[in-house]
Amino acid sequence: MKKVTAFAPATVANVSCGFDILGFAVEELGDKVTVSLSEQPGVRVVSIEGDGGRLPYESEKNTCSVAIQAFVDQVGFERGIEISLSKGLPLGSGMGSSAASSVAALVAANSLLGEPLGRKELLPFAMKAEGVACGAEHADNVAPSLLGGFVLIRSYKPLDVTRLHVPEGLYCTLVHPHFELNTADSRSVLRQQVSLKDAIIQSGNIAGLVAGLFQEDMGLISRSLQDVIAEPSRSVLIPGFDEIKEAIKDAGALGSGISGSGPTTFILSPSREIAQKASEICQEVFNKIGLEVDLYVSAVNVRGAYLINESKNEVL
Ligand code: HSE
Repeated sequence: MKKVTAFAPATVANVSCGFDILGFAVEELGDKVTVSLSEQPGVRVVSIEGDGGRLPYESEKNTCSVAIQAFVDQVGFERGIEISLSKGLPLGSGMGSSAASSVAALVAANSLLGEPLGRKELLPFAMKAEGVACGAEHADNVAPSLLGGFVLIRSYKPLDVTRLHVPEGLYCTLVHPHFELNTADSRSVLRQQVSLKDAIIQSGNIAGLVAGLFQEDMGLISRSLQDVIAEPSRSVLIPGFDEIKEAIKDAGALGSGISGSGPTTFILSPSREIAQKASEICQEVFNKIGLEVDLYVSAVNVRGAYLINESKNEVL
């Protein structure tokens, strides 16, 4: 029976000032999903590994099956599909774990069915899965995981998504402390009103960040990495967050922020060396706090999700 496997990368959503409208993909970290046709009708999750037994198998709760079900409903496919999920990403980390699963599932299923839809057309199904995972159909993890690079969601209704330029030499450090923050909980602490003053600051920063990416202006990117909407309410939930922000300045990093809804912190740097140095500084900060962390240094992943030939162990 034909099988298709796809990998989808981890992502940093929000990127400080772009709450729910901006995200980028990172290298290497991510989830793998294998799909195959089945004589038994319906979309079913048959195996999950790497989740410590915590993710649901029920079709209406698992982000892979929710996404694929929405996709097959749209393309009118009526035979069965079996799903095997291999988690590379920790749950509740702020690195787009649920998004990587649904995106890998969709890319694999679209290939299995002979590519009836283009990449961007898969996005609404992945967003539906995000709705199931955290109660909000936000696209700032699924869009960059699917398309790669930096992605801006200009509008949700109608959906208007565009890829941005990725400057040469831009690197990211991810600092993942060993505890979980559930996205639904992190969203529940957000203020529902934004003052005119904060709206002006946030708009200036998001416009500055987008301009900085296109102009490869690292100073402008650095000045724009400021979030007055989500970060003030959420950063109190993340030990070490303020210390990191202060400590990485001397290393020459551009700035830091909460990756998605946390607890991972992302740092942007103008070179791999500085990103590496920032990672070492963060390790020292967390040694002092006494909390275990995983640290990753990565370029921005401009490819997004991709197919893998499992039998030959090669990327397609
Ligand atoms: N924009 C979403 C949030 C991302 O901040 O809640 C969740 O990963």
